[in-house]
Amino acid sequence: MSQIDFAQVEAAVAQAIRRRSTADLQLLGHGEISVVMAWPAGAPVAAVKRVPPFRDLARAQQYVTVCDDFFATLRAANVGIWPTTLHIHERPDGRAVVYHQQPIADITQLGSNVLRSAAPADSHPLLDAIVDAAARVCTRTLGFDCQLANWLWDGSTATQIDFTSPFALTESRDDLLYDTHTFLQEYPVVVRPYLRKEFTSLLRRFTSAEGALADMVANMMKEGLDQWVDPAINTINSRLGINLSREKAQWMYDNDRKLLPTVLKIKKVQRWWLTHTGRNYEQLLPEKTTYELLAREH
Ligand SMILES: Nc1ncnc2c1ncn2[C@@H]1O[C@H](COP(=O)(O)OP(=O)(O)OP(=O)(O)O)[C@@H](O)[C@H]1O
Ligand SMILES: [Mg+2]
Repeated sequence: MSQIDFAQVEAAVAQAIRRRSTADLQLLGHGEISVVMAWPAGAPVAAVKRVPPFRDLARAQQYVTVCDDFFATLRAANVGIWPTTLHIHERPDGRAVVYHQQPIADITQLGSNVLRSAAPADSHPLLDAIVDAAARVCTRTLGFDCQLANWLWDGSTATQIDFTSPFALTESRDDLLYDTHTFLQEYPVVVRPYLRKEFTSLLRRFTSAEGALADMVANMMKEGLDQWVDPAINTINSRLGINLSREKAQWMYDNDRKLLPTVLKIKKVQRWWLTHTGRNYEQLLPEKTTYELLAREH
């Protein structure tokens, strides 16, 4: 994979954070957590995803180890992995930023785009592959984010592309195996204990194949893929021998489309507060959540 100077990437991101504008970056997309850039802008050789800074190198290394374990789990479960390398950039201020580097994918192969352009049918081999992958990967301490926008489909293999936030939980299932301060630092101190609880309970959704796949269906509702909702539910139920209802997925979607835009608003308030009290702000926030962006498209 091409050599990238992550000090340069970090400098470009720092400038975008200061200007509150991603206009000088070439974005490939964003989920709810990370922003995905093509680098270098103008003549890109790779996709890079920035994980918010860890407080020190040891915590960044701990996160990298959790990601490595997750890759090993996926490999053992025979799940396709988009080639991904992790890079720790140690900053002069002692913090450590982890970047994920990948080849730039052909976005027509993104699972959501594949189903959007496919002729309506009762089933699709991509859905079969995702359901089987979820069944092999999910355990009570490991969640798997199976939404269609996290997969590429080349006509025969489903390949996972999203590794920035592995849902690896502690034995007691009330915390992640790496430092969640990294994700919580974006929020005001007073709401952190509440959000830690909300988020870990949200993560538990992904620790069973049924929950992870119900979330996939909820995301299909978000993406306007309604014609695939029934085929997906039928595939899930017949392959897993369960009884997932459309209502359950609808309930998740209704919850998430309220929660996530609120969460982004809280982050923006925190950004305002920190920058107006002369402190560092570390996050490159999307303008809108995918809930608001996609709602406008459909
Ligand atoms: N290697 C890549 N090449 C091209 N586009 C990509 C690549 N990786 C991700 N993307 C685009 O960016 C989107 C978000 O990427 P990804 O799922 O890795 O980020 P995320 O913030 O972790 O997502 P989420 O918050 O939903 O878990 C993808 O759905 C896809 O559209
Ligand atoms: Mg994603």
